[in-house]
Amino acid sequence: MTSAEIIALEEKYGAHNYFPVPVVIAKGQGVRVWDPEGKEYLDFLSGICAVGQGHCHPKLVRALQEQAEKLTLISRAFYSDQFGPFAEYITKYFGYQRVLMMNTGVEAFETACKLSRKWGYTKKGIPENEAKILVAEGNFHGRTLAAISASTSPDSMKNFGPAAPGFLSVPFGDLQALEEKLCDTKIAAFVVEPIQGEGGVVLPPEGYLRAVRKLCSEKNVLFVADEIQTGIGRTGRLLACDYEEVRPDVVLLGKSLSGGLFPVSAVLADDPVMLSFQPGDHGSTFGGNPLACAVARVALEIVKDEGLVQNSARQGELLRRLLREAKLPHVREVRGRGLLNAVEFEKDAPVKASTLCLALRDNGILAKNTRESVIRFAPPLVIQESEIRLGVERIVTAFRPVT
Ligand SMILES: Cc1ncc(COP(=O)(O)O)c(C=O)c1O
Repeated sequence: MTSAEIIALEEKYGAHNYFPVPVVIAKGQGVRVWDPEGKEYLDFLSGICAVGQGHCHPKLVRALQEQAEKLTLISRAFYSDQFGPFAEYITKYFGYQRVLMMNTGVEAFETACKLSRKWGYTKKGIPENEAKILVAEGNFHGRTLAAISASTSPDSMKNFGPAAPGFLSVPFGDLQALEEKLCDTKIAAFVVEPIQGEGGVVLPPEGYLRAVRKLCSEKNVLFVADEIQTGIGRTGRLLACDYEEVRPDVVLLGKSLSGGLFPVSAVLADDPVMLSFQPGDHGSTFGGNPLACAVARVALEIVKDEGLVQNSARQGELLRRLLREAKLPHVREVRGRGLLNAVEFEKDAPVKASTLCLALRDNGILAKNTRESVIRFAPPLVIQESEIRLGVERIVTAFRPVT
C-alpha cells in the first residue's frame, strides 16, 4: 500500500482526534525511519520524547521477545517473577523507596492526583472532599478528564465539561504567586513539569525548582514533578529536576521508560506518601505487567550503559549552537536543554510552524509544532554528532525558501 492509500484509510476509518503531519512511517532503526516508499527521514520528535533509546534497539526488542515467549499476563492478582525485582531496580535507580506502575503518562498523572488527595486527607488532615491540587498555567499532563480539568488551555475543556473540581493554577515560573497560593491549607500537592514540553519547551527561571522545593516543604504540600517528557536523560540530566539538585516528593515517568516500545509509566515516592494507598485504592490490569517490567528494566539499563544522559547533554548543546549559528529566518529564539529543544518564530513571521514542518518533512526531517509558533526538535538520545550535523543541514535547507 502507498502512503497516500494508508493516510486515506486512517482518515476514513479512524477517529479524527489527531492532526498528523502527512507522512507514513513503516520502519525505524536508531534515529532513522522510512516511509513505505523507502524514503528515509531523521526522527527529530522521537514519538514525542518516548523513543529515547532509538528505534528498534536490539536489546529492547530481544527483552520484549524473550519475555513475550515466557508469560502473557497474570494481572496483579498474583505475584509475577518480574515486578518485585523490577521495583527494586527502578526505585534504586532513581533513589525512591517505592514505585507504582501504570501504563500511560496520563495514568501516572491521575495516580499522582489520587495519591496526593489521599495523603492530604489521611496525613495532612485536609477536611474530607476539600483537597485541592495546584498546577502550573500552560501545563500538559494528558487527555483524561482529570488532566484536561487541570489544563489551563481554553480549548482543552471546550465541550467536555463539567471539569473535575479541585484544581487551581498558578503562572509557571512565578514564585510570588506560588507562595501566595500555597497559603491555602487545603492544597495537597503542586504538580509541575520542570520544563513545559507541550507548552512550547518553556524553561522556568533559574532557581525556580529549588524555590518550589523549599516552599512546598514549608507549607507541607507535596512537590510532584511530571517528568514524563523531561525524564530519563531527555534534558541532559537523568531527571530535569537534577539541574537544580532538588528531590521532588513524587516523580512521574512514562514515554522513554520503555524506550517507546510499550506503554509503561511509573509513579515514584517514599513510604510516607506511597503507603497512603492501600489494597484496592488504585491499579490497572496491565500496571506492572511482566512484559512492561522486562522492557523497562532494559530501557533503563541502556540509558546507563550507553551514556545516553551525557550524550543528550553533549548533542543538545551542539544542536542549539548549530541552529543559532544558522540564523534561521524569522526565528526569534532557539532554546532547550539536552535533546528537548525548540525554535520559536517571531510574532509576525510570514510562515506558520505547521507549514514549516511540511518543508522539514520534504527535506527528510520529522518534527512537529507544539504551539502555533514553536517547533520542537527532540531526536532520540542515541543520536551521534554526524546525524546532528546532517539534521541541521536539512533544517537549514527547509528554511531557505522562507525570507
Ligand atoms: C509532561 C507530560 N505529562 C503527561 C503526558 C501524557 O502522557 P500520555 O500521552 O502517555 O498519556 C505527556 C504527553 O505528552 C506529557 O508530555
